[in-house]
Amino acid sequence: MIRITTRFGTDADAIGACAAILRGGGLVAFPTETVYGLGADATNGRAVAGIYEAKGRPSFNPLIAHVVDVPAATRQGVFPPAALRLAAAFWPGPLTLVVPRAPGCTVSEIALAGHDSIALRVPAHPVVRAILAATGLPIAAPSANRSGHVSPTNAAHVTDDLDGRIDAIIDGGPTAVGVESTILACLGGRVSLLRPGGVTRADIERVLGASLDDPLVETGSDPLAPGMLASHYAPRARIRLDASAARPGEAWLGFAGASGGATGPALDLSPAGDLAEAAANLFGMLRDLDAAGTAVIAVAPIPAHGLGEAIRDRLSRAATR
Ligand code: TXA
Ligand code: MG
Repeated sequence: MIRITTRFGTDADAIGACAAILRGGGLVAFPTETVYGLGADATNGRAVAGIYEAKGRPSFNPLIAHVVDVPAATRQGVFPPAALRLAAAFWPGPLTLVVPRAPGCTVSEIALAGHDSIALRVPAHPVVRAILAATGLPIAAPSANRSGHVSPTNAAHVTDDLDGRIDAIIDGGPTAVGVESTILACLGGRVSLLRPGGVTRADIERVLGASLDDPLVETGSDPLAPGMLASHYAPRARIRLDASAARPGEAWLGFAGASGGATGPALDLSPAGDLAEAAANLFGMLRDLDAAGTAVIAVAPIPAHGLGEAIRDRLSRAATR
C-alpha cells in the first residue's frame, strides 16, 4: 500500500499517482471533510466490487457516488427542484442527495446495489476535489473502515482497518466535521432524512422553507438507507447512553466538562460544550476508549439539537447489538 501525505491536495504528483490508480481500477483512501472515504471508479463494476471486498461490506448496501460539481451530479441523477435548491445551498459540503437515477447514469449497477435511485455528493475537501478533477470520474466511496466499525477520521484509523487490502492512502490529517454526510432522499415529491449528519436539520429546513417529511415506512428486509442498520457502528465495548456518572470500572466519554466521577479511562468530546468539536472528536475517542479495553463506555448526555442529532444517532447505533 502506498502512503502519501498531502495537506491541501495541491501536490500534483501525489494526486496524479492516485488518479492513475483509480483509472486502473484500484482502491484509494482519501480524506473528505466528513470522514475518510475508500474510493474506486464508480463506472467500473470490478473496481467497485473491490470496495465491498476490502471492507467486508454486504453487497446489498449501495455506495455514494462523489462528483465534482452540480452538472456532474445532474448527469447521473434526476434532480427535482427541492434537490437543486439543496445542492445550491450545501454543495460542495457534507450533504448526500438520493434521487432517481438518470437515463444516462454511468455509475455501475453494483455501486447502486440494484436500486433505481442514486446517492450523490459533491464533497468540499481539497484532496478529494483534486482527485475528482484529475480523474474526471464519479468516484464511489463509502467510509474507509471495515464494515461495522466506526468511520475513520484520520489516516491511522484507515490503516488500522484496511492496511494491505487497498492500493493507496492519502493522509490529509484529521477530518474537520467528523461525522458522515447528512443523507436526504428526494424521491416521490418528498424530502426525507435518511441519516442525520454534517448539515443540520435546522439548516436544511431553512433552505426548504418547510419541515422534512417522514421517511417512507421501512421494512426490515428493504431498509431505505440499507447501511443504516441499527448495529452498524458497534465498538467492542458496550455503550451506556445518557449516563450521569461512570460506574466503577466503566470508561467515561464526557461532554461540556462533565467528569462523571470516572476512575478509569476518561475523555471529553468537548470541554467547552461545542457540538461541532464533539462531532469531530466522536469516532476517534470511541476508538481510543475501545482500545483501552474497558467492557463499558458510559457517555454523558449530548444535546439533541444541531449536530447533536447526528452524534446521538451514531451513539445509539454504537449502543445497539
Ligand atoms: O460523509 C460521507 O457520506 C462518507 C464520505 C466518505 O463521503 N461516506 C459514507 O458512505 O458515509 P457509507 O457508504 O459509509 O454510507 C452511505 C450510506 C449507506 O447507509 C447507504 O446504505 C446509503 O448511504 N445509500 C447509498 N445509496 C443509497 C440509495 N440509493 N438509497 C438509499 N440509501 C443509500
Ligand atoms: Mg460507513
